[in-house]
Amino acid sequence: MSPSKVKKSKPSAKAQAILRQKYHVCDMALAAKGKDRILWADHDMPVLAMIRERFAREKPLRGKRMSACLHVTAETANLMRTLKAGGADLVLVASNPLSTQDDVAASLVKDFGVRTYSIKGEDRDTYYAHLDAAMRHEPMITMDDGADLVHGLHTTHTRFAKGIIASLEETTTGVIRLRALERQGQLTLPVFAVNDAETKHLFDNRYGTGQSTLDGIIRATDVLIAGRTVVVAGYGWCGKGFAMRAKGHGADVVITEVNPVRAIEARMDGFRVMTMAQAAPIGDIFCTVTGNMHVIRPEHFAKMKDHAIVCNSGHFDIELDLKGLGKLAKKVEKNVVAFVDRYTLPSGNRIMVIAEGRLVNLGAAHGHPASVMDMSFATQALTSEFAIKNAKKLTVTVHDVPRAIEEYIANMKLMTMGAKIDKLTPDQKKYLSSWTMGT
Ligand code: ADE
Repeated sequence: MSPSKVKKSKPSAKAQAILRQKYHVCDMALAAKGKDRILWADHDMPVLAMIRERFAREKPLRGKRMSACLHVTAETANLMRTLKAGGADLVLVASNPLSTQDDVAASLVKDFGVRTYSIKGEDRDTYYAHLDAAMRHEPMITMDDGADLVHGLHTTHTRFAKGIIASLEETTTGVIRLRALERQGQLTLPVFAVNDAETKHLFDNRYGTGQSTLDGIIRATDVLIAGRTVVVAGYGWCGKGFAMRAKGHGADVVITEVNPVRAIEARMDGFRVMTMAQAAPIGDIFCTVTGNMHVIRPEHFAKMKDHAIVCNSGHFDIELDLKGLGKLAKKVEKNVVAFVDRYTLPSGNRIMVIAEGRLVNLGAAHGHPASVMDMSFATQALTSEFAIKNAKKLTVTVHDVPRAIEEYIANMKLMTMGAKIDKLTPDQKKYLSSWTMGT
């Protein structure tokens, strides 16, 4: 949910009914299908599986209450299995109302005993009731994808903050919010910027978002990418990944940016760079990945071609000004095909919006593939173990993931890929630690 939508009032009757339940999923009859998908994904998550085997033996999370607010996918299910194998007492809730895989949620409850509260398409009240359930679990460790739990621990649920050992954050947007909290001197608990680990953002944000964003657009629209002008707003790791994959499909890729250094990078990577006002009339497909609000506004929509496709792959649903588009349009038709709304402008031009401006890769597709989530979630699992082992020493600040964890994960991933790398010779080590040799 977007940051402006905090709800502080007493739980509604519907929310109270949800809170009385041990879990809340769409349909338990979907569990068998979910289990199949979880186990298939597991095959592509070998590093996490190795950690799970060790956790099962050593139980480093024994008795620790944990609440996770993540996209409820087959990959997340394998992270939950790992934490549970380590002895954690878990609650899982959705970090986005559209990203839940209902079969996976059912299987997590039925086959893996994880208390899960998440339903694809859940409304605002249900979303917040689920977050509330995660807080009332009185977690010692939280995992967020977008900082909703940490936000709650600093606003509506401050009473639960004192029991927290650490909070772990999965995404760029969440880390930006946590660093803002720290800068303003208002952070009350230790947090780990898991997103900023190289084993996370270099692969998940770039290759994961790159592929899954394209996947969401194609699944929803069946559009041919080759020969189209694809406008990518934002050239961070996610924007880079998506631009690279769109180019690979034969698109003419245009980048819009506010950061001059990133804009040069985009130019030297071979893309055209221009403003959104210049891109609006020439684009066929638009995708925002900036982490900022109202990147595409009514003045841009008004200039777009008939049947322009517009979507967002940034964390929150604030990058497209869809309220503004709704006011501009003379007709709005919901779900003309699954996950696509059609806005007809006074000019007669139609704008096709995917997944209501929410994450297109999780709303209209299945998110990042398992083999990339393997590294992200291995980083989460090992960082939670580190936080518990070092609980007494953690300062109230935004921590980086320890380098040793990143190196371990990178080495394990390489090994499972069957790739070997060279080792430094003693002379090379000496050279790298000297400032006089070879000059
Ligand atoms: N974020 C992006 N893709 C994801 C996935 N497959 N599972 C969990 N979180 C994700």
